[in-house]
Amino acid sequence: MLIKIPQGWEIPERDTTPESTYLNRRQLLAGLGLAGIGSQMIAHAATVKQNTEFQVGDRPVTEEWAATGYNNFYEFDPENKEKVKDLVGKFVTSPWSVKVSGLVNKPQTFDLDKLVASVPIEERIYRFRCVEAWAMSVPWMGFPMSALIKMVEPKPEAKFIKFWSIVRPDEMPGAKRGLGGYKFPYYEGLRMDEAMNPLAFFATGMYGKAIPKQNGAPIRAVLPWKYGYKGAKSIERIEFVAKEPPTFWNDLNSGEYGFYSNVNPSKSHPRWSQASEKVLPRMARQPTLMYNGYEKWVAGMYNGKEY
Ligand code: MTE
Repeated sequence: MLIKIPQGWEIPERDTTPESTYLNRRQLLAGLGLAGIGSQMIAHAATVKQNTEFQVGDRPVTEEWAATGYNNFYEFDPENKEKVKDLVGKFVTSPWSVKVSGLVNKPQTFDLDKLVASVPIEERIYRFRCVEAWAMSVPWMGFPMSALIKMVEPKPEAKFIKFWSIVRPDEMPGAKRGLGGYKFPYYEGLRMDEAMNPLAFFATGMYGKAIPKQNGAPIRAVLPWKYGYKGAKSIERIEFVAKEPPTFWNDLNSGEYGFYSNVNPSKSHPRWSQASEKVLPRMARQPTLMYNGYEKWVAGMYNGKEY
């Protein structure tokens, strides 16, 4: 594969452009780049606000080609991360709805365009850390998970949330061919306080455009203090439950993938150390940070316990 590796001195656009110009360019890009997604999303992309409250500033934003060209999306291909983007062509992501059910006062099925129109869309730059040790920094667009949770009014007995990704074998070659023997749909879960934490985010865009299919279009979860697999892609169903729900990777290998899966440099994966990480695209090593750098917002939820 022929790829352009930018030189160290080619600093990201963000670092060279004043914020006002940058946001205007973003708005323009958003308007230009959204063919195939709902008009509401376009309207909202044009008013996206940059939220810098949660910025952990030691890593430049990863080049877009790298973040959108190196993916874990096993329903398309469980083996080759660089091939996923070439296999998503048949995946239909609009129209889209998300069914929310379980222990809530207002169960409902949201049309995604309408949902996006009803919440303030923000851009947040988050560090991202995969359990396999590669890492990046991504400008996501979307809305806090808490915004959706408040709309459905969870009952007091709702202690956990379960997320399901969609599975459509005819549109997803990995799922169709049963590669690796994985049983889809992909499912994940969070404790209620984790889902309500201000960092917990639903992403519907990245790099100022609709989120690409390979990154989890049209809506995926982003939990920057946890390993990347906690963030289910292409979510179609959410359920509020009383007990800790099973999760895809934990069911496959409970010794390697726990329910909480918080980024922790001192807790090795059974097959490799987590003390350092490799930053896309050059894979330069740097130390892993506790909770991926988000300790100040999340450590209080765990009292030194569930890593
Ligand atoms: N969601 C689904 N449905 N299928 C997957 O294979 N992979 C997970 C997570 N969400 C996965 C998924 C893993 S292991 C990671 S690291 C991230 O998505 C990768 O997100 P990215 O490709 O946008 O970097």
